[in-house]
Amino acid sequence: QAAEGAVYYLFGATGDLAKRKLFPALFSLYKEGKLAENFAVVGLARRPRTNDQFRSDVYESIVEFCRYKADDTALWNKFAEHFVYMPLDINNVDGFRELNQLSSELDKKFDIAGNRLFYLALAPDLFGPVSFNLRDGGLLGSDGWKRLVIEKPFGYDLESARKLNAQLSQVFKEEEIYRIDHYLGKEMVQNIEVVRFANAFFEPLWNNKHIANVQITLSETVGVEDRGGYYDKSGALRDMMQNHMLQMLTMIAMEPPSRLQPEDIRDEKVKVLRSLRPYRSSEEVRASVVRAQYSEGAASTKSLPGYRQEDSVNPESVTETYFGARVYVDNFRWAGVPFYIRTGKRMPVKTTEVVIEFKNVPENVLFGSREDVGPNLLVIRVNPMEGMYIKFNAKRPGSDREIQPVAMEFCQSCQVGINTPEAYERLIYDAARGDSTRFTRWDEVAQAWTFVDPIAKAWKESDSDLAFYPAGSWGPEPMDRIIEEDGFHWWPVN
Ligand code: BG6
Repeated sequence: QAAEGAVYYLFGATGDLAKRKLFPALFSLYKEGKLAENFAVVGLARRPRTNDQFRSDVYESIVEFCRYKADDTALWNKFAEHFVYMPLDINNVDGFRELNQLSSELDKKFDIAGNRLFYLALAPDLFGPVSFNLRDGGLLGSDGWKRLVIEKPFGYDLESARKLNAQLSQVFKEEEIYRIDHYLGKEMVQNIEVVRFANAFFEPLWNNKHIANVQITLSETVGVEDRGGYYDKSGALRDMMQNHMLQMLTMIAMEPPSRLQPEDIRDEKVKVLRSLRPYRSSEEVRASVVRAQYSEGAASTKSLPGYRQEDSVNPESVTETYFGARVYVDNFRWAGVPFYIRTGKRMPVKTTEVVIEFKNVPENVLFGSREDVGPNLLVIRVNPMEGMYIKFNAKRPGSDREIQPVAMEFCQSCQVGINTPEAYERLIYDAARGDSTRFTRWDEVAQAWTFVDPIAKAWKESDSDLAFYPAGSWGPEPMDRIIEEDGFHWWPVN
C-alpha cells in the first residue's frame, strides 16, 4: 500500500548516508509502489548543484547500493523527475523561505496535500537551528502533516540530549519526531517480537528459570574508515551501545505488550531500560565493563593499521573502538541472568548475533555430569545472514550412548536471498505512514543515557583500564575473564 503523498526534504543530501542508504531506499520503495506518484524529494546541502547533477548523483548511488537495478530507463526517468536540489545555508532563514516557496510549487505539481517529511542527515548540533528555521521560514504552515526524522546520535549525554529535546519540542510535538535507530528496521530484529510472542514453545522458557545467559554481539570488520573525526569524539559506547545494543537488548527482554500499538510496545521497552541495574561507582564499572581500542593487526594476509594511525584520529586517542559489558535486567523475569554484550570495529567477521543459552538439564539424573551434554542454544542471526537456529542434544548415530549437539536451522537469507527490504526502506516507509513503532521515543533515549552516563563518567576519571586488541581479533582478554568468572564463555559466532 502506498504511503500518503508528501515532500521529502533531505538535509545532508550530498553526504554518505544519502548516497549509501536513503536514495536506494527511496528507489526500492518506488519500485514496489510504496511511494506512488505524488511525492517529491528536495535535496538540500550547502554546495551548489543543479537538478541534473543531483539526479545523476542519485542514479550513481542506486547503481552502486540499491537492491533493485535502475535498468528500466522509462521508470528511472519517471522516478528522477521527482527529485530537485536546492543549495541551502541552514543558518539563514531566507533560504528556508525560498524553500517554502519551492514546496508550494512541488505540492501543486505532484498533487501533494502539504504533507512534509524533514529528514535531517546532519550532525545533531544542527537539529535545533534547522528546526527553528523550518518554523520561521514558514515550512510548517502547510495544511498536511509534518514529521521530523533525525539520525543518531541524539546528544552526547543525558544533559545534552535534554537540551536538544527541549529545542526540538519548541517546534515539533513528540509524536511528530521520528528518532532513527536503523537496527530497529532490520528484518530479524523485528522478527524477535514475532518469534517470542507467536510461538508456544519460546515464551514459557523465556525467563530466569530456564535461561542461563544472553549474549549479544555486534562485530564489524571495518575500522573507522573516513569517519575518524566523528568517531574519535564518540567511540563505541555512544556510537553503538547507547542505541543499537540497548535497543536489541530491550527487544529480547521486554514483556509482551498489551497491544501491538506503537505506544504499548515502546512502553514495554522503556520498562526494560528502567530495570537495567545501574553501575553505581567506577569500581562497579570496571568490574563489569570493558573498553578497548584496536592496535595494529592483520586480517588474512593484509596488515591493518592501529586506530591511532587512522585519518583524523588523535594519535594519543583513548577512544574505545570496542565495548563489552555484563548487564543485568533487575525485574521478575530476568533477575540473576547476565546479558553479555559486545561490539567492536576491526573484528574478524561482520555479524550481529544473539545467543540465548538455556540452563542445563538437571545433571546426573540420567547422563551424569558429562562433557558431551552441552546447553541448548537459540541463536538469532540478524546481520548479514538472516535466520535462526536451535542447538540441542541427540544421540550420535550408531554409538551406544554418546551425545552430540545438532542444530535445527531456519535460514531466511537462503530462502529470500539478499532481497529483504533494507532497514532504511522500512523506516522511511513507516515514517511516511506515521507508524512510529520502530523509532525511539524521548523517554527511551533519556533512559538509555541514564544508564550510559555513569560508564562515561568512570572512564573520564582515568583511562588506565583502556585495553588494546590487535585489529582482526575478537577483542580484549578482560571481557573473556568477566564471562569466565560467571562460569560461561562466548559462543562462537558465524
Ligand atoms: C552505525 C554506526 O549506526 O551503525 C557505525 O554509526 C556502524 O559506526 C553501523 O558501522 C553498523 O550498522 P550495520 O547496519 O552495518 O550493522
